[in-house]
Amino acid sequence: MKIAWGITGAGHLLQDSVEFLEMLKKDHKITIFLSGAGEEVLKMYGLFDRVKKISGGYYQELVIEKEQRSSYPMTGRFSLGKYDLLVVSPTTSNTIAKIVNGIADTLITNAVAQAGKGKVPTSIIPVDLESGDLDTVLPSKLELDLCQKCDTCEAAAACPNQAITPGVEINLLQCKGCGACQISCPFDAVTGGKKITIHMRDIDIENTSKLFNFPGVDVLSHPSEIKKFLDEF
Ligand SMILES: Cc1cc2nc3c(=O)[nH]c(=O)nc-3n(C[C@H](O)[C@H](O)[C@H](O)COP(=O)(O)O)c2cc1C
Repeated sequence: MKIAWGITGAGHLLQDSVEFLEMLKKDHKITIFLSGAGEEVLKMYGLFDRVKKISGGYYQELVIEKEQRSSYPMTGRFSLGKYDLLVVSPTTSNTIAKIVNGIADTLITNAVAQAGKGKVPTSIIPVDLESGDLDTVLPSKLELDLCQKCDTCEAAAACPNQAITPGVEINLLQCKGCGACQISCPFDAVTGGKKITIHMRDIDIENTSKLFNFPGVDVLSHPSEIKKFLDEF
């Protein structure tokens, strides 16, 4: 099958999405589309190179927002019905809000709009699916209560991307998620994958609920649910 997979800038379900993509790649042609935030957040979690490795070849490209122009000619493939399936996982609340309002001014929202026009079945895996609290994981974080403000910061010295301002913070836009800082700090002051609980906003849950009425769109709770769909195809 020819599958298009969009990744937006959500940390939640990101690793699960990449792992599932790696598995799908064995049997299918996959084009990966990244929103601008999707690219940044993949790097923060150290997953960008894995996504790059999945890509390569015709209909197996890595399509990056910042390398596209405003008219998104690549998404013409959807209006021409060239894909069997479009998956967006994970999907941020921002992208959901745009989709349900018919906005198509980013690579991913444009892909979803064109998929609708080309009758390409679309599966969306939103982060903000159910009201209440959600446990998720952070990328690398400098824990100031553990940081000893050493004269020479081992974590900063180990960082190949100069992302750490010692005793202050990690610049996540510089961070590539390699984890060298975490193993270098003798005081374990840099965490990676720390769990936090976030609260789902009503507006985001309401937007997601509108997706259930979209023709041609399935709303799923985990990327692995795509497997069921593929088996039925
Ligand atoms: C580390 C990190 C994790 C994030 N995780 C989420 C998330 O799980 N869900 C979400 O809606 N936004 C999340 N965001 C915020 C989005 O990246 C941001 O709203 C962005 O503008 C979304 O753009 P996009 O929808 O075009 O990808 C995260 C941002 C960062 C820096």
